[in-house]
Amino acid sequence: MYIDIANDKLNSLMQRNNAVILAIESSCDETACAVMRGKELLSNIISSQIEIHRRFGGVVPEVASRNHTLAIGSVVAEAITAAGIGYGDIDCIAVTYGSGLLGALIVGVAYAKSLAYTLGVPIIKVNHIKGHIAANYIADSELRPPFMCLIASGGHTAIANVTSYNDIDIIGETVDDACGEAFDKVARILGLPYPGGVEIERLARSGNPGTIELPTPFKGEAHYNFSYSGLKTAVINYVHNCEQKGIIYNPADVAASFQARAVGIMVDNTMRAVRSFGASQLVVAGGVGANLMLRSRLEEQAAEAKVKVIYPPLKLCTDNAAMIASAARVMIESGVAVASDLSLDAVARIEIAD
Ligand code: KG4
Ligand code: ZN
Repeated sequence: MYIDIANDKLNSLMQRNNAVILAIESSCDETACAVMRGKELLSNIISSQIEIHRRFGGVVPEVASRNHTLAIGSVVAEAITAAGIGYGDIDCIAVTYGSGLLGALIVGVAYAKSLAYTLGVPIIKVNHIKGHIAANYIADSELRPPFMCLIASGGHTAIANVTSYNDIDIIGETVDDACGEAFDKVARILGLPYPGGVEIERLARSGNPGTIELPTPFKGEAHYNFSYSGLKTAVINYVHNCEQKGIIYNPADVAASFQARAVGIMVDNTMRAVRSFGASQLVVAGGVGANLMLRSRLEEQAAEAKVKVIYPPLKLCTDNAAMIASAARVMIESGVAVASDLSLDAVARIEIAD
């Protein structure tokens, strides 16, 4: 039986720390495959569909699935070649099974299962957000839990107290929109291309952040939750109001004001959590973690609090498969990895801590 072989192999991998892991990520619009040997990242291939989705102003799920199907074979082959290994060297397959677009996830999961079955190696299913957190183990090979983590992606905004490789306690999260989602919507209203976060950041450089009045949700409240819906709506209303009244506004000022407030909310909440939990390390995970204003504000405040800040290099902030390999590696090396059987399915929505 496949699962018996997979369990035996996984047990033997857990005795060593140099497993060759091939990881697949297809949860949104990047088809990605990476290979790691122990802590060493051997290859990291990302085939982006951004250009395809740009003309629609956002990701079209059905189009994403079809393009994953077209790309996955060559992306995996390229990752193996770039790693300088053969199929026979692969000890284990890691794959993102959720959260994400269901049809997109299914392509990666189906490919992972067939490859694992053919090679007779275990599959380890990886939670996409745990992958984003694990990108930091590549960025800093000395990093170990416990740490406080700001998770800021297109679908999630949360603060997690990470107490071990597998134990994540969510102490605050968004009650409505994710921060990345707000960046993307504001970019759209300003006529900027998809994906909007990086475009807002670029435009904000030439703007004045103090120009428009924007709300600060949950100001003065003791919890660590976020809300981005009101902030997004305030920006949209400002732009519509100007347009209706024929008032000329400067899009760079709008971008700068929005970015300053969006980043300020994340930094304030995160640093309050760091201080009250007495954390000595702060980790940043997810695509919004690529924002340079967020990074520099966190660094300034963390330096004052004598807290070390770790974030991934830009290429590992947004979706990639290296982070999925890294999550599987720490699970294997800490002895908590579980081999999935061939009934493994993609799941559109899972909790961050699952
Ligand atoms: O983590 P990610 O690649 O995908 C998800 O798992 O959702 O995050 C994508 C999000 C998008 O909303 C994108 O606009 C945002 O990250 N993002 C940024 C920047 N780069 C990407 N937001 C602000 N500033 C950036 N430089
Ligand atoms: Zn992501």
